[in-house]
Amino acid sequence: MGVSGCGKSTVGSRLAELLGVAFLEGDDFHPESNKEKMSSGHSLNDLDRQPWLEKLNFELRNRPSCVLSCSALKESYRNLLTADLDSYCFLHLEGEFDLIHERMKSRSSHFMPASLLKSQFDALERPSQAYHIDISQSIDDIVKIATAQITMNKSKIGLLGLGVMGKSLARNIADKGNKTSVYNLPFPGEEEVVKDFVEKFEDLSFYGATDLGDFVNSLSKPRMIILMIKAGEAVDEMIGKLKPLLCENDMIVDAGNSFYKDTQRREAEMKAEGFHFVGMGVSGGEEGALNGPSIMPAGTAYAQKYLLPVLRDIAAKAKGEPCVQWVGPDGAGHFVKMIHNGIEYADMQLISELYEVCRKVFGLSNAEIADFFESFDSIHKGYLLEISIDILRKKEGNSYVLDTILDVAGHKGTGMWTSREALEMGIAVPTITAAMNQRIISSYKELRKTLGSSPKNNIDFTTDWQRSLENGFLMARMQAHIEGFHLIQAASDKNGWNVNMASVSSLWRGGCIIRSAMLPVFMSSFTEDTKLEHLYLSKTIMSILQNSIKHAVAVNSLAQENSVSTPCFSAAIQYFLSVTTSELPINMIQAQRDYFGAHTYRTNEDPGTPRHTIWN
Ligand code: 6PG
Repeated sequence: MGVSGCGKSTVGSRLAELLGVAFLEGDDFHPESNKEKMSSGHSLNDLDRQPWLEKLNFELRNRPSCVLSCSALKESYRNLLTADLDSYCFLHLEGEFDLIHERMKSRSSHFMPASLLKSQFDALERPSQAYHIDISQSIDDIVKIATAQITMNKSKIGLLGLGVMGKSLARNIADKGNKTSVYNLPFPGEEEVVKDFVEKFEDLSFYGATDLGDFVNSLSKPRMIILMIKAGEAVDEMIGKLKPLLCENDMIVDAGNSFYKDTQRREAEMKAEGFHFVGMGVSGGEEGALNGPSIMPAGTAYAQKYLLPVLRDIAAKAKGEPCVQWVGPDGAGHFVKMIHNGIEYADMQLISELYEVCRKVFGLSNAEIADFFESFDSIHKGYLLEISIDILRKKEGNSYVLDTILDVAGHKGTGMWTSREALEMGIAVPTITAAMNQRIISSYKELRKTLGSSPKNNIDFTTDWQRSLENGFLMARMQAHIEGFHLIQAASDKNGWNVNMASVSSLWRGGCIIRSAMLPVFMSSFTEDTKLEHLYLSKTIMSILQNSIKHAVAVNSLAQENSVSTPCFSAAIQYFLSVTTSELPINMIQAQRDYFGAHTYRTNEDPGTPRHTIWN
């Protein structure tokens, strides 16, 4: 395509010959009336062109493959031309007005006079979905570029954002035999990122795109574009840039830690325009992204059909099963990832609390704590405990690295969202929230330094205490997971996601940060009773909690007696005690509310009828 005189007939016929397909000269299909109108120096309007474009579309639809030379100046013309075509590709020959004008003047025997060139330029809507070729080059070079573009082996999938995680995930995808296009916005200092990456991993099948249009154009349809960029506004901006380049049914996959309500909004907006949007939780850090993450995608069944096979290849495996499940529609995947992170915060905080009790109450050294953690029962075996053991043992010179680290933790939002959403949904997640609060309290460093001492004791580290620490840890960890699963169930019910809880437990068994031998226990409970409303109703889970609660209480009391804070242990215990109590003192709260605000209360005998008492 291109304005009259751009050389499209010459290039098109050479191209068709090289590719061994038919060549269609668009001008040949103009009705006589159009030719006469142009010959007399009048430009065609939309109505004149419509039957011509429809005729061309008919010709295209009835050929297995061909090259067509046609001006196709407007987007609406290109839509008419390509209606109902399975696949097509636009090559846009473009050049300066003066150059084309000169060429047109020297051309004889064409019904289009050079005087009409301006109207062609005026009508031209530069296509966003085309490969643009500069016509100031020789015809040979143009044909060479055009051939390369058409025969280019399109990539199966595209990955945008070559940060640490993006690079690892791209390598993982390409390593499974998928040709992968990669692109990174050329921020200052990052102009060479794509080139360097593709060169470094030349043994893998990568296509390094030069710009966004080239990136999109290099993908086979329906296009699958994975965004590995910072959550937040950057995602909306990138969607805005990509959308004009996409075709119907193309999909954008957001693999960042996006807030699930943003994902719901983006999914609806994309759907309204005929695209697919997949919110995909990915866990496992850099190493997981490269060697097998745990993946939580959600979106339409159409997107699932194309994307899931690739994801199954790249995901971590647990007992041979890929750690990926299509979690549900719209925001379900990012919601599940958010809960994963909430549990992650609690798991990390609980390990820190154990470490704190071991060093401050029992006076153990880092190496002794590492040995103790290593002796834990198999149910605790998992990623976070393993890395904590490594951390406890890591020395630089004569000092432990851990001892040099400032005790202030930041966060990127997912743990906070978990607590906030839980409150909004009316679901209690106190153990997870305690972990979040402790990160906040950690930031009061100056206040803590002003007020605090760091008491240390040397209580005998008996085998009884060791058993209590381990079993108390079991109780509290299990509690954090139970809260997380409860919240997923509530969100699934509220949003009609139909999340399969056994599947979620299954996909967390490998690859992710919270992977541990505890996950299969939840998986069995959800598999045994698919309608399980709360994990406390599982006999197996309740019996573990009942056997371990006394240990959690013992550890918690000991910690507090020794002025050591263990907020997650406390929260877990309080939840258990509250939920396993048929009568809470909330009758007093109801009475108080009624006393000062006439809020009314209900009675045990007749809960259907609100009552009010004149209290004073
Ligand atoms: C993962 C991690 C990862 C990241 C979290 C936590 O599953 O791979 O959860 O996504 O570490 O965002 O980060 P913050 O602790 O900084 O909130």
